[in-house]
Amino acid sequence: MLPRTAQIRLVSCHPEVYEPCDDSFALVDALLADREHLIKHQPMLCMELGCGSGYVISSLAIMLGELGSGVHYFATDINPDAAETTQATLKAHGLHAEIVVTDVASGLHKNLAGMIDVIVVNPPYVPTPEEEVGCKGITASWAGGENGRSVIDKILPIVDELLSQKGWLYMVTLTANNPSQICLLMKEKGYASRIIVQRSTEEESLHVIKFWRVVVSNDSPRSDSWFSQFPLKLFSRSSGST
Ligand SMILES: C[S@@+](CC[C@H](N)C(=O)[O-])C[C@H]1O[C@@H](n2cnc3c(N)ncnc32)[C@H](O)[C@@H]1O
Repeated sequence: MLPRTAQIRLVSCHPEVYEPCDDSFALVDALLADREHLIKHQPMLCMELGCGSGYVISSLAIMLGELGSGVHYFATDINPDAAETTQATLKAHGLHAEIVVTDVASGLHKNLAGMIDVIVVNPPYVPTPEEEVGCKGITASWAGGENGRSVIDKILPIVDELLSQKGWLYMVTLTANNPSQICLLMKEKGYASRIIVQRSTEEESLHVIKFWRVVVSNDSPRSDSWFSQFPLKLFSRSSGST
């Protein structure tokens, strides 16, 4: 049977690059759990923000392999060593992505605005002193500033610019990041959300949340009843089609 995700033995490593860990596996498990929807979604452009070792973007490309060569992949990281490591991991799997060393998606989000169908991100989410955010090397992998939200709050408006009308975002968050408030912020931008994967360890409780735009037709007035269920619906493990 063909592997459904990137193979750990083929994932490159570097002392200054985040190795695939519980959060990376939770994100890939969420993508696997949603794989059938992703295939039906037929994305043309997919992007990972903060690609680290390349395990997640390689896994996504393998999962979507049956869609053929019409799907293009982008990956960004602020850490140049991560970009090189991702390149090596993709190559070891016979895959290709455009890799850009940049802060979130600077320099890309104007050209690619409204074009990306799937964005995946496992951000630096650990609450740390603000000075650690954006530090060079491995520290950038986890340093999330106050409530672990500094990089997340920078990512959200950029994701909103990048995503196509049918675009989906899959993002890892920690309870300390106040995920329900993140969902409310995204709701204000017109996105619905649901948890795809939830993992708790002794140290932390992780959620992988999927966001998608709520399409409001001109004929039907904006459904207040739908919004009034918020945030109760927010964390329901809905079995809806999105
Ligand atoms: C938690 S690690 C996740 C790595 C990989 N995606 C995974 O799941 O294994 C976060 C990654 O985001 C990168 N990063 C941190 N701040 C960033 C920023 N402002 N812009 C782009 N990448 C950033 C880090 O260098 C690191 O590789």
